[in-house]
Amino acid sequence: MSKIRNKIYIETYGCQMNFADTELVMGILKNQGYELAKEIDDANVILLNTCSIRDNAEQKIYSRLEHLRGNKRRKPGTVVGILGCMAERLRKNLIEEKKIVDLVVGPDEYRRLPEFIDSAFGGEKGIGVKLSRTETYDDIIPHREDGLNAWISVMRGCDKFCTFCVVPFTRGRERSRSLGTIIEEIKQLSARGFREVTLLGQNVNSYSDNENDFADLLAASAKVDDSIRIRFTTSHPQDLSDKLLYTIAEHPNICNYIHLPVQSGSNRILELMNRTYTIEHYLNLIDKARATIPGVSFSTDIIAGFPGETIEDHFMTLEVIQKVRYDGAFMFKYSPREGTKAFDMIDDVSEEVKAKRLNDIIDLQHKISFEINQSEIGTEKIILVEGSSKKSDDFLAGRTDTNKITVFPKNDEIAVGDYVKVKINRATSATLFADFLETVIPLNEKLIARR
Ligand code: 5AD
Ligand code: SF4
Repeated sequence: MSKIRNKIYIETYGCQMNFADTELVMGILKNQGYELAKEIDDANVILLNTCSIRDNAEQKIYSRLEHLRGNKRRKPGTVVGILGCMAERLRKNLIEEKKIVDLVVGPDEYRRLPEFIDSAFGGEKGIGVKLSRTETYDDIIPHREDGLNAWISVMRGCDKFCTFCVVPFTRGRERSRSLGTIIEEIKQLSARGFREVTLLGQNVNSYSDNENDFADLLAASAKVDDSIRIRFTTSHPQDLSDKLLYTIAEHPNICNYIHLPVQSGSNRILELMNRTYTIEHYLNLIDKARATIPGVSFSTDIIAGFPGETIEDHFMTLEVIQKVRYDGAFMFKYSPREGTKAFDMIDDVSEEVKAKRLNDIIDLQHKISFEINQSEIGTEKIILVEGSSKKSDDFLAGRTDTNKITVFPKNDEIAVGDYVKVKINRATSATLFADFLETVIPLNEKLIARR
C-alpha cells in the first residue's frame, strides 16, 4: 500500500511530555509522506500515545482498545498501535494479550515508526521498545498547528528513581537536547506568532548539554523574544539552584510560577520514596524562592496513602500544604506499579483510607486556592489573551503569569495573543474574573510594576 494513502490518527493520554512526543511523532511521519487524519473514521492507522503512571491511566487505554475493536471491524486492515509508556512497560504482552494491537513502540524508538507501520500493513506485528542513552530527537521538527502555546521537550528520561514511579523504567536515563537547537526552535515559534513556550522534562531543571545548565537555557530562551512567555515543568527540589531562582527573577518574561512536587510532608515517607530531600530543606527552598522572586507562586504533586503512611504522616502532608499555601496541586492516591521498589513494600493503606486522605488533601487545597484567589481581588494583572472563555463567547480568557485562568468581557480593542492589563473583581478557587484596563506593550509593564 502506498504511504500516501495511509492516514494517521493519534490520541494522546497522560502528561505534557506525551503531548510533545505526539507532535514529534507527527513530524517524523509527515517527513516520510504520511498524512494526518483529522477524524478517527478517516484514518487507517490509529495510534494511542499512552501513560503508565498509575493503574487507572492504563485501564483507560484498555477500555479504549475494546472500543477500537469496532473501528477495526468496520474498516478491516486498520492498524492499531500503542506508543509511549505502556508500550515500554508491557512490551510484547500487549500484542500477545490484545489481539487488536498491531504495533508497540516505546518513547525512544519513534524514528522506526514508519517501518513498523509498513510491516503492520504486511501483516507483521512490530515491537520497538529499546531505550536509548542518547536519543533526544534533537534534529526532528515537531508538527505543530498554529497557536499561542508550544511545548518543547528539552530533556528526556529520569535518573531520580523515586520508589513509586515507573518513569525511569518507561522513559530511561536522563539526556538533554543541545541549547542551540532549542533556541532555534523558539525563534521559529516566535516567527510564527507563538506567545508562550513551555520547556518540558520529567526533571527539567536537571537539564545539561554539558556546557549549559537549565538556568542558562531559561535565560537564552527568554532573550529570543520578550513577547514570548517562558514556562517550564517539572522541577525537582534537588536541582532548584540559586542561579535558577536568580534567572527567573531577572527575566520579566520567565513566568513566576514553579511546579515543585513535594509528594509527602513526612520525612520518613520522603525517605521511603527516595525523594532525596527533607521537608525542612523543601520549605527552605520555598522561602528562598519567595525572597528572590517577588510574587512567585507554586503548585505541587501529592501522593496519598504511600506504603506505611500513618495518620501522623498524613497530618504532616496537610501541614506542609498549609505552610506553603500552593496556588494549585495535582493530588493522587498511591498506585502500586510493578517493577518499582515501592511495589515490594506492603501496600498497607486500605483503599478507603487512601480515598479519605486524598479527599482531606483536596478539600484543604481547594480552600487555600479559593483564599489565595480571593486575595487577588482588587489587584491588577497582565494576561495573555488566549481566546473566548469556555462558558461564554461574550468573554475572553487568558492566564496570568502565575498560570491562573482569568476571564473578562470581550471588546473590539483586544485580539487573541495580546497582553492586557486587567483588574480582578471576583474569584473562585479555579478562576479569576476581571475588568479590562488596557492593552500593554508586552511585559515591559511587568518590569515597571516590579520596581
Ligand atoms: N501512584 C500515585 N501517584 C504517582 N505519581 C507517580 N507515580 C505514582 C504512583 N505510583 C505522581 C507523582 C508525580 C506525578 C507525575 O504523578 O505525584 O509527581
Ligand atoms: Fe518519577 Fe521521581 Fe523521576 Fe518524577 S522525579 S519522573 S516522580 S522518578
